[in-house]
Amino acid sequence: MLDLLITHATLPDGRQNMSIAVQGGRITEVTEGLQAPAHETVDADGLLVSPPFVDAHFHMDSTLSYGQPRVNESGTLLEGIALWGELKPTLTHDAIVQRALQYCDMAVARGLQAIRSHVDTSHPSLLPVEALLDVKQRVAPYLDLQLVAFPQDGVLRAPGGLDNLKRALDMGVDVVGGIPHFERTMAQGAESVKILCELAAERGKRVDMHCDESDDPHSRHVETLAYETQRLGLHGRVTGSHLTSMHSMDNYYVSKLMALMAEADLGVVANPLINITLQGRHDTYPKRRGMTRVPELMAAGLTVAFGHDCVLDPWYSGGSGDMLEAAHMGLHVGQMTSQAAMRQCFDAVTVNPARLLGLEGYGIAPGCHADLVLLHARNPVDAIRLRAARLGVWRRGQRVASQPRPVAELHLPGRPGSVSFL
Ligand code: FE2
Repeated sequence: MLDLLITHATLPDGRQNMSIAVQGGRITEVTEGLQAPAHETVDADGLLVSPPFVDAHFHMDSTLSYGQPRVNESGTLLEGIALWGELKPTLTHDAIVQRALQYCDMAVARGLQAIRSHVDTSHPSLLPVEALLDVKQRVAPYLDLQLVAFPQDGVLRAPGGLDNLKRALDMGVDVVGGIPHFERTMAQGAESVKILCELAAERGKRVDMHCDESDDPHSRHVETLAYETQRLGLHGRVTGSHLTSMHSMDNYYVSKLMALMAEADLGVVANPLINITLQGRHDTYPKRRGMTRVPELMAAGLTVAFGHDCVLDPWYSGGSGDMLEAAHMGLHVGQMTSQAAMRQCFDAVTVNPARLLGLEGYGIAPGCHADLVLLHARNPVDAIRLRAARLGVWRRGQRVASQPRPVAELHLPGRPGSVSFL
């Protein structure tokens, strides 16, 4: 007797009428037309079954704090950082844990099962670190929470910044973070990248840095990040997040830079929801979009993911844990409208971030974890177009969330009584 059998599923690669058999938390078989007794049987009716969404870039210590103690009036990154600085002294362990758990509830209902969250290590108390380590343990049965030691106020700029970050790693934080564009000078930013990459190499950690999150066409930290990755042999273990300055850089320089990034097998995370609102704030018209060069980076062979980054916090006043919203925005901002490019946008919230996080057993194939999402869509492109309802979410073969099919009643003369948008 199987634990779970899903029949008549369409898979993200286009295979149809597929059955997915699950036993002991793992997928045992993926084949056409299989029928077998199971504790739970689900007829997908031709709809899309995907591996879960993965968010490669989030801030769970600040989420759901919107309006505390006030809102970001200018909408800039720097006012957001200042505002977070005002909120920090009032934070408590319990408040961070409760907000984070509430966010994880929403995320799971949206089919998210892995999140890489940056956690601010700037304050010597490391209160957010303790709180999110607690959350990581509590959500582990239904969500993989990977934590990045993020020196929000700079490792060199803030007194004790590097020591605090090292202590966070000692406490069990998984990944080394950074924020070179916030250090005092370009030289100090480059120095911070070198120090942090060496620290990661020493400790066998991955790296994920906020990097060049500005509209400055001369910001060059991703070049240093690629160089240090290559020098230290950290290929495939280092991610540059945001990289928004690449939007404004000279095209000739970028043609050299992308080759260096590809040589280092650098991961890239764009955060389209946030950067379309934060960037270009000093422009009149035309206003720059500020998202990094996603289609070009993908064409150069780099692994590119879309992150959600923020939900209701000092930097962003929207969001609800929906990675299809991030994919939808990324598709539009990057003008990724061909069928192939729209498919790539779906990969950017599923398989690509799974690779950046180094997730084990991710995917729909025999031997993979039975982590699955049934979407109210016929294919990945439709899923993005509709921000499709997540009809069922399974973790290790057990159902963890459900939602009814969205149907709107119609009261129109001579027209059907309902519409389902499919
Ligand atoms: Fe971020």
